[in-house]
Amino acid sequence: MLMKTKNIKDYIGVFDSGAGGTTVLKECVKLLPNENFYYYGDSKHAPYGEKSTKEIQDRTMEAINQMLNHGAKAIVVACNTATSAAIWLARDVFPDVPIIGVEPALKPATADHKNIVVLATEKTLALDKFHELAKEYAKDVNVYPVAGEGLAGAIEEGHLDDEVIQNLLHKCLDQYVGKADAIVLGCTHYPIIKDQILKILDVDCYDGGEGTARQLKRKLEENGLLTKSEEKGNVLFESSLDEAVDLYKKVYDAYNI
Ligand code: DGL
Repeated sequence: MLMKTKNIKDYIGVFDSGAGGTTVLKECVKLLPNENFYYYGDSKHAPYGEKSTKEIQDRTMEAINQMLNHGAKAIVVACNTATSAAIWLARDVFPDVPIIGVEPALKPATADHKNIVVLATEKTLALDKFHELAKEYAKDVNVYPVAGEGLAGAIEEGHLDDEVIQNLLHKCLDQYVGKADAIVLGCTHYPIIKDQILKILDVDCYDGGEGTARQLKRKLEENGLLTKSEEKGNVLFESSLDEAVDLYKKVYDAYNI
C-alpha cells in the first residue's frame, strides 16, 4: 500500500477495507465540519471479513502507519472487522495518537429491544471483542449474530440496489422476520444498503457511525487537537485500488444520515 497524498498534516485519517467507512466519515464531517479528513480504503484487498486475523492486523497497521507518517493527527478505524482484530495493537504501538474504532451499536439497541439481530462480518462475530460486548450489554436480551456473507464484497463490486444484494440479504435475514425487533449494522458497509435491509426486516436499526463521530470529537478535545479553523475543511479520498475512489465518492454523496 502506497499513499499518494504525501502531506496530511492537520488531517484526521479515516480507514476502512473499502467503501464502508465513508458512512462513518459522513457522520464525522457532519459533527466536525471544519476538520480536514483523509479517507483511505483498501479495496484492493477487500473484503477483510473473510481474511485471517493476522492479515487484517498487518493491513490495518500498515494503513495507520502510513497515515501517521504522512502527518495525520488522529485515526478513525472505520471498520468493525479491523477494529476487532487490530485496535488494541494500534493503540499499543502508537500510544500518543488518538485512535478511534467502531463497534456494533449493541448497547443502544438493548435499551428498548429484546430480540436483536447483529449483522456483521464473519470475522467480527468470531473475535473476542464482539463476545465481550454481548456479555456486557446483552445479558437479558436475545442476540442473533448473523454473518453478512458476500455483502461487503458485492458492495465493493458496485452492487448497491439490485438483485445481487437482495438475494444475499434474503438468504441471511428471512429467518428473522417476525422474530427480531431490532437490527444492529455491525459492518460499516451495511448502512449503504440500509433501505434494502429494512425492506426485508422492518425493525429499528442501529449503527455505530454517530457514536464514533462523538468519540472522535471527545478525543480531539481531550488531546487539544480540535482545529481552530472557522472554515469548512477538506475531505480527500484515496484507495489502494485507484478505480474504487469513484465508488467511495458516490456512496459518500448519496448516504443520508
Ligand atoms: N467495513 C468493514 C466492517 O465494518 C469490513 C467489510 C469487509 O471488508 O469485509 O466490518
